[in-house]
Amino acid sequence: MVTWHDLRREPFRLFFPLGTLFGCLGVSHWLFYALHLSPSSSALFHASVQMGAYMACFIVGFLFTALPRFSSTAIATNGELLVVSALLVAELVCLSVGWWIAAQACVAGLQFVVAWFAGRRFIARRSVVGPPIEFVWIPIGVALGLVGSAALACGQRGLVPGWVTAAGRVMAQQGFVLSIVIGVSGFMAPRLLGHARSVDITLSPAQASRRRARRLLGHATAATAFSASFFLEGFGLAGPAYLMRAAVVTVLLAWATQWYRRPAASDFYLQLLRWSLWMMVLGLWTAGLWPRYRIAMLHLMFVGSLSLMTFAVGTMVVLSHTGGATVLRRPLWVLRIVAWGLGTATVARVLADLRPVFYFRLLGLASSAWLIAAVSWLLFILPRVLRPIPEGAFESLHEAAKQRLR
Ligand code: HEM
Repeated sequence: MVTWHDLRREPFRLFFPLGTLFGCLGVSHWLFYALHLSPSSSALFHASVQMGAYMACFIVGFLFTALPRFSSTAIATNGELLVVSALLVAELVCLSVGWWIAAQACVAGLQFVVAWFAGRRFIARRSVVGPPIEFVWIPIGVALGLVGSAALACGQRGLVPGWVTAAGRVMAQQGFVLSIVIGVSGFMAPRLLGHARSVDITLSPAQASRRRARRLLGHATAATAFSASFFLEGFGLAGPAYLMRAAVVTVLLAWATQWYRRPAASDFYLQLLRWSLWMMVLGLWTAGLWPRYRIAMLHLMFVGSLSLMTFAVGTMVVLSHTGGATVLRRPLWVLRIVAWGLGTATVARVLADLRPVFYFRLLGLASSAWLIAAVSWLLFILPRVLRPIPEGAFESLHEAAKQRLR
């Protein structure tokens, strides 16, 4: 059995299974309602669990494992791990009893700990190479998350006008998660897909730092437009808001990941990763083009992109860190189930809004398919994340996992 120290060294062993359970809780909400096993439904409960707990767990699991390795700094401390776990559990309890503001405070606390964790490692980094430029989206995401949570909490107390509350709600739900996904996938996806641009070693240090400053300016401009899109949505201009968000995300992902090109290797998880990048772009553009069906189209992104990405990249992280890297090359049964389940869930969820007569039946179908994919994935990873690392194998496994991202 893994020890507490293993969890501190590789927090994904704790947060990936926990995140999957939270995702099941948020999605099963619609299945229970469709089957009349639950008397009422709450979109706010579902959206908050999905973004503030399920996605947050995968973000924390990934960043808390990767950042110390990339910066050659200390692994997660007892305090960091305990505080994040306590905040997640408290958030779920508050959401379950309808204490929305307290739940929002837990999410804000969690985002603060992510900022604290990343900031400490950034300051203490021993690596001579600076952090990947795309990681500038981590503080941007934390800032959007904190401002969004504060605006939403003030709105729920009637302290701010309606447009601030509306902007805060989407900022809290999408701003944090999308920014981190843009930053992390902007760095990881090109390396995994085999599209990383080679470093120009002919540049002098002055030229290299000018190039870095220009790229930072590009990201700052993109972040300004991205943030402005939430205010547009707050003012009720959903169409222009999503078109703007879609344009920013498309340009950033196209530049960083070149997702439109085939992956260099044929591993199935890479095909799924590429598919998830397509779906993110598609979901945002279609939400902008058909704002009336905004929520349905957004599920192209929530289910077809974010869920697919968590399970595809999660499989790579789990197998690379547990001695199963060679298995990754094979067409894994679990990834077939994930692809089938999430594909069905995406189609059914979108159709639900287009065919209102069958609304709850289609929601039930979408939930069931999502749950089959998620539970299968959980059963696949559980024995691996619970198995302790063989003595002496830790460093070599981590070095091999890091090599994937060189
Ligand atoms: C596959 C099963 C799913 C079903 C059946 C489902 C169903 C729904 C429904 C019925 C709503 C409320 C619509 C309304 O207010 O009229 C909703 C909203 C939402 N869902 Fe899902 N959902 C699913 C999966 C997901 C996933 C996996 C995520 C996130 C990763 C997610 C994130 C959200 C968010 C953030 C909202 C609020 C959107 C907004 O109002 O801006 N959902 N979902």
